[in-house]
Amino acid sequence: MIQIFPDYETLSREAAARIISLGMSAIVERDRFDLVLSGGDTPRRCYEILAERLREEPEFWRDTHVFWGDERCVRPDDPASNYGRAKETLLDVVKAPAKNVHRIRAESADLEAAAAAYAESFPVFPDLLLLGMGADGHTASLFAGSSALDEREKRFVVVEASVDPKTRITMAPPAIFAARTTLMLVSGPEKAEALQRVFGDGDVRETPAALVCEATWFVTNDAMG
Ligand code: 6PG
Repeated sequence: MIQIFPDYETLSREAAARIISLGMSAIVERDRFDLVLSGGDTPRRCYEILAERLREEPEFWRDTHVFWGDERCVRPDDPASNYGRAKETLLDVVKAPAKNVHRIRAESADLEAAAAAYAESFPVFPDLLLLGMGADGHTASLFAGSSALDEREKRFVVVEASVDPKTRITMAPPAIFAARTTLMLVSGPEKAEALQRVFGDGDVRETPAALVCEATWFVTNDAMG
């Protein structure tokens, strides 16, 4: 389902509202909210709004566990770290308990072991998976033509991306398809072509974001082309 918003600020506000309402329902129903964050620039404003709205909600954060769908193989304090960005804009502000923040150890010397360990710690059925889409149609760190798109067992794998930083650990299809809800955030005219491919021929090999074409897509008007 695609929901179109007039601008980035509105999309970010609506995404934050959706995350809060799904989180509250998960906590009521299962005493726990497993939230998987995406990297990239698009969710930045949404994270800021979540930080404003959930700054004084320690009970929400007591029951919320935060994961990532992919990580660039850099140190956690590197500006390119997906964990680092979320920490700065959201997790530090709301004082998320350290034991509830499950980052991918992508700075490890043994990346295969780090991916396997992360898969072990990752929820079987995450409540909410947030994703973004690159202008080339990648999502998480699943890029066009990647053999990771054919993975049917491992939930996290090490991949080489076509953009920097190249080496990454990413969720593979088994982890993506396990999410109870997936919310894709897309903003900006540079995404229009890939978006048309997702909802056109939907060729996952060429446009990996088509893997989640049945998810909820929040899209700004300018990305509709
Ligand atoms: C990453 C991502 C990636 C991102 C898209 C969109 O680590 O790069 O998780 O899949 O979500 O590339 O990025 P923007 O939001 O910056 O366009």
